[in-house]
Amino acid sequence: MREEETSAEVDFGFRRVPETAKAPLVRAVFDSVAGRYDLMNDLMSGGIHRWWKAELIATLRPRPGQRLVDVAGGTGDIARRALPYLTGKPDGGVVVCDANPRMVELGRARAIDDGILAGIEFLCGDAEQLPFADCSFDLYTIAFGLRNVTRRERALAEARRVLKPGGRFLCLEFAPAVTPLLQPLYDLYSFRVLPALGAVVAGDRAAYAYLAESIRRFPTPSALSEMIADCGLDRVKFRPMTGGIVALHSAWRL
Ligand SMILES: C[S@@+](CC[C@H](N)C(=O)[O-])C[C@H]1O[C@@H](n2cnc3c(N)ncnc32)[C@H](O)[C@@H]1O
Repeated sequence: MREEETSAEVDFGFRRVPETAKAPLVRAVFDSVAGRYDLMNDLMSGGIHRWWKAELIATLRPRPGQRLVDVAGGTGDIARRALPYLTGKPDGGVVVCDANPRMVELGRARAIDDGILAGIEFLCGDAEQLPFADCSFDLYTIAFGLRNVTRRERALAEARRVLKPGGRFLCLEFAPAVTPLLQPLYDLYSFRVLPALGAVVAGDRAAYAYLAESIRRFPTPSALSEMIADCGLDRVKFRPMTGGIVALHSAWRL
């Protein structure tokens, strides 16, 4: 069969693009905003992303000696929060795995600058094809990453594969709809304020328009729960936070 007959289309924000085009487009987004990524997170969420991430860690309850892989880990926010709980026993630590070399580089440099050297590793890798052996980790996290992945089912199947039996999966992600009372304000913010902020602070309006659009195209928390269960993870639950702006999904490899 010829390639054009087999290639599917996927969402890139509100656009439909060939499946093979999405990863390079996503890569260009993060290449462009990497230098201002951390600052933009604080500005656009008013700092609330810090609380969402703290809640992820509180739910994860990492323990000394456990191994965590933080996929699409970007500049290492989740990994750095988890690290103090993982160390203190042999083998404990965290691997940040992200598809974008620039995000990985920045994360590594930021950790070194802050004197965080032991128990943390930064490497480049695709969520759909993780560079780890089966049953390598006790814990798997992905925060604001799954939305950017082309074949999410593959990423979820990979999460299951690299987790040990009894391992924990957590996904923190934006949800496409918020509580109805908030929706008009949220729409105004997403489609007007956010791209303008992206233009001024990160010099890239389109990257933040993509953010808003990709959120609207992401599955609802219930649909994502089904997708996670279909990929073989068990005891799937989710918790909406901040009026449904984000949802924290939890599952286990049994
Ligand atoms: C919005 S950032 C989230 C970073 C970090 N987890 C956080 O919460 O701050 C999304 C990250 O996903 C990464 N990414 C996108 N597609 C990916 C893929 N297929 N595999 C691994 N990482 C990916 C991007 O490079 C980017 O660093």
